[in-house]
Amino acid sequence: MIFEQLKPQIEAIVSNNQRTVDERLYSICELLEKNITYYNWVGFYFSHATKEELHLGPYVGAPTDHTVIPFGKGICGQVALSHSNFVVPDVKAQDNYIACSITVKAEIVVPIFKNGKNIGQIDIDSNTPDPFSQLDESFLEFVCEQVANILS
Ligand code: SME
Repeated sequence: MIFEQLKPQIEAIVSNNQRTVDERLYSICELLEKNITYYNWVGFYFSHATKEELHLGPYVGAPTDHTVIPFGKGICGQVALSHSNFVVPDVKAQDNYIACSITVKAEIVVPIFKNGKNIGQIDIDSNTPDPFSQLDESFLEFVCEQVANILS
């Protein structure tokens, strides 16, 4: 199973203190985008220190205009408030959705918790309809737990 093979690679990237946090986050995006065929845009958003906004961090995939997303807006903004995973099998069925690319069919967003606080999220867009399962959620929760270890 690809997820089990990727887990030790995630741990190796995260624990490499020779590299900056952003370099390590970027490598995680690359690893996921390269190895999971239906992960077509992989990126991190982080909550602003004082404003109710998400700010785009490292990502791999098509450039996006949505570098700042207000809490509540789009799938990402909703996760900033709900603190729960959001799996979207069909983005066309969502009213509160921010389109980044017309090729995107589905999306999954999983929050990152540090000391119990929702500090950001990993966001995956897929060009395949309805591709995500509970296995993606569990794997991405693992990724978020790992990443939280190197975030302040
Ligand atoms: N689709 C997201 C916006 C971010 S892009 O996918 C990169 C949303 O609705 O929040």
